[in-house]
Order: sequence, then structure tokens, then C-alpha cells
Amino acid sequence: MSSDVIFTPLKFRNLEVKNRIFRSSISGRFDNEDGSLTQTRINWESKFAAGGVGAIISSYVPVLIEGRIIAGYGTVHRDAYIPLWQKLGESVHAHGSKFIMQLSHSGRQLDVPGIHNRKRKALSSTSHKEPINGVPCQAMSKAQIDYTVNAFADAAWRAREAGLDGVELHSANGYLFSQFLSSGINDRTDEYGGSLENRARFLLEVIEAIRAKVGREFHLQVKLGAIDRNNVIPWEKKGNTLADCVQIAKWCESAGVDGIHVSSGSSFPHPLNPPGDFPLEVLAYTYDTMISSGDYGMRNYLMFRYPVLRPIFHWVWFRMKAGHPIEGISLDEARVIKAAVKIPVIVTGGFQTASVVASAIHDGVCDGVAIARSLIANNDLPKIWASGKDRPDRPCTYCNKCLVNAPKNPLGCYEEARYPDYETMVETIMSIYSTHADLKVSGDEGLLTN
Ligand SMILES: Cc1cc2nc3c(=O)[nH]c(=O)nc-3n(C[C@H](O)[C@H](O)[C@H](O)COP(=O)(O)O)c2cc1C
Ligand code: SF4
Repeated sequence: MSSDVIFTPLKFRNLEVKNRIFRSSISGRFDNEDGSLTQTRINWESKFAAGGVGAIISSYVPVLIEGRIIAGYGTVHRDAYIPLWQKLGESVHAHGSKFIMQLSHSGRQLDVPGIHNRKRKALSSTSHKEPINGVPCQAMSKAQIDYTVNAFADAAWRAREAGLDGVELHSANGYLFSQFLSSGINDRTDEYGGSLENRARFLLEVIEAIRAKVGREFHLQVKLGAIDRNNVIPWEKKGNTLADCVQIAKWCESAGVDGIHVSSGSSFPHPLNPPGDFPLEVLAYTYDTMISSGDYGMRNYLMFRYPVLRPIFHWVWFRMKAGHPIEGISLDEARVIKAAVKIPVIVTGGFQTASVVASAIHDGVCDGVAIARSLIANNDLPKIWASGKDRPDRPCTYCNKCLVNAPKNPLGCYEEARYPDYETMVETIMSIYSTHADLKVSGDEGLLTN
């Protein structure tokens, strides 16, 4: 199958993307403690634009500072940050790529609470702690829900003011929207819990508030977990089915959403997302950053740290993987969702082979793909495909070492086998930090002293 279809433009209602390749969100700790952006961030996002992707979906961008997963993630909770996001957008636009900001709130699923969250419980749909790391939380009041709905609308407005091309609601992977949507998590008895309609109310209110604030012209897409598979910890409930997700996607479309981004799982990470390995031996020296984050942090760390205990975690995590492919792991679900809506559908999960992507688009399973790790490994994957190669020479191995390093170490590809030696790997990872020429010294005009 020719890869030409990958390089045809994708038209949303009010946004045209030059090809079918989206850089999926990849979060790392390269911004400032207060959520303001850095040159490192601009370097990071821009290298994928230079590599030829049609659009970049930003990393997870919290709409409120307390909605962060980890300190060091750029936020959009202040008007003062609009010019920073504008610079980032301009840098990506210079390569002909679009930039879509992923608007997010962690709810109870946070990795390192940071000083903003140390003295308060995480907010969620429920007061039951997050089951993997054991982060305590508290069910949101109506006033807190209304406040958060407005925060999303304000954030979308800031993204538009910054000249970005659209926003994506991170309504997948276990973060706050998922905590409301999932029948495995949401145990409320008010108008935000119980029936699917009630569980979807928070998301639909946010969509409505965004439309009221920025109008119909600004691109708005929603990332949805097709199937929850919430029983990673075996005694948790399974959560939403594909049929639930189809209904949510239809409601989103009716409410004025322009595209659906299909993901999977009601947590992040999840055994099926990102698909592939889960290197417990690497977690043994990276998970220590999270030991005190939740009530189960020390328990988990001991299971990673001591090889004799690893089979316990291994069984819990790997039992769900059986029978699932890595590349295109959510294609079956995308096909069903695409058949139910008229707006474009993109899908994430393991894509790395041009012929696989071309067939999926050609067969009408999806309209485009969102890629994270294969682009971390080969930033210029689109150019590799355009040159006629079906797969890169040094492909991503799906080892997930990038993922389990992310809470502690700089973001990048940590698969040593892909490099001539360890030093080259470190140098490659560090390349985004080449910002030194911009440093100001005390006495320079503009240096903040506070
Ligand atoms: C290090 C890392 C960070 C990620 N951060 C985010 C994020 O901030 N928001 C999000 O929606 N997905 C995030 N993801 C998930 C990816 O966007 C993607 O959906 C998932 O990895 C599956 O795609 P892939 O197989 O191409 O990597 C992250 C994945 C990785 C590996
Ligand atoms: S560390 Fe590199 S090879 Fe491993 S999953 Fe991440 S990008 Fe792919």
C-alpha cells in the first residue's frame, strides 16, 4: 500500500492539517516551577515540527496550577503566559505544523503533588483514593465543579489569544474527565454521577463553556478512552465499555466538538497504554521520586526495587496485555467510533509502520494517527516515511524506558540499544537543553529578582 494517503491534508471543520500525522502529547519536566514556559520546551516541541508532523498536540497543560501531575509542566492558568505560548506556537508554525494545546486537570491521578498540592487533597469525582499509587482525594462540590468548568473555558480562550490552532480536552487516561466519565471510578449520587448522561455532564459543561467563551470557529477536539479496563488492580470495577464511549463521542459531536482522538484505559500509565514493555528494573531507580506521593508509593517501590517481589507487580500489570497487538492497539475501537460520528477521528497507540497507517486511513478506520514514542525515537519519522521507507532503521522498541524515566529524568529515548554507546544516548537526550546563550546575569535589564 502506497503511503501517499498519509500525506494528504486532513480537514476538520475549521482547521486543516497538512498530513495525517499528529505528534501525540508527551509530558516532561522542562518548564518552570510556576508553570511558565522555557526555551527547552520550545526546543522540544519544535523538533517534531521540523521532523514533518502535520500537527503537534502539546503535552498535558493544566488549566489550574493544582491540576498538575508534576511540577515543571507548563500551565495555562495565567493570562501572563499567553505571550510564552504564542512564541511556542510561532516556532512550530515556522515548520508548517499546527499546534493544538491539550487542556488538562489531573484530579486524583497525580505523580508528584508539589508545593501547591501538599496541604490539600486532590479533587476528583470521588473520595476513593487513586488505586495504583494511593493518592488521597476528595469528591468535588458543585462550586468546585463550576470553578473548574470556567477554568477550562478561560484556558481555551488563552490558547486562542496565543494564536494556537485549537485545543484538545484530555478526557482520557484516568485524569479528571475520566474520573467523572468512568463507571468504575465515579461513585457520586448527584447529577454528576450514576447514569452515563450524568457522568458525562462535567465534560459536556466544559465543552459548552468553551464554545460560549471562544465561539464556534476555534478548533476543539476531545481525547477519549475507548474502553476503561479499570480493573488493573483486580478488585476495581471494569468501568466504561466501548458502547459507552461511542455514546460520549456522539454527545461531544452534538455539543460542537470538531474531532475525536481515541486512546484507551482509565489510568496512565495503563497496561495497554502506552503498549509494550514496562521495565520494572528501571522503575527501581526512578520511582523513588514518587514514594511519598500516595499511600501505596513505598509498597510499589519495594516491588520494583527487590527482584524477588517483581513477579507480583509483573502479574498485575502484564496479565491484561495478552492478545493485544502493540501497533494500532486501539484501531478496532477507532473503527467503531468513526462509524458512529461524522467528525474526523484520530487514534493513538504504537504506530510506526507507514503501510499500517496508510491501510487504516485508506480503509476508513481512522482519519489520522497520533504518535508519541516512535517520534521520540525518530523525530523525523514523517520524513522517513515520505522517503519511501516503511519503518525506520532504528525503530522504537516499545520498551517504555522513556515513560518510566519521565517523572525523574529528562524526557527522551532511553533505549541504549538504539545508540552506539551510553554517552551518545545522554548527549542526544540533553540536546534540547541548548539554551545557555539566553541566560541573563545579575544586573542585566529584565532579570527578575523578586
Ligand atoms: C513519556 C510520555 C508522556 C506522555 N504524556 C502524555 C500526556 O501528557 N498527555 C496524553 O494525552 N498522553 C500522554 N502520553 C501518551 C501518548 O500521547 C500516547 O497516546 C501513547 O504513548 C500511545 O502512543 P505511542 O504508542 O505512539 O507512544 C505520554 C506518553 C509517554 C511515553
Ligand atoms: S525509550 Fe526509546 S525505544 Fe523505548 S519506548 Fe521510549 S522512545 Fe521507544
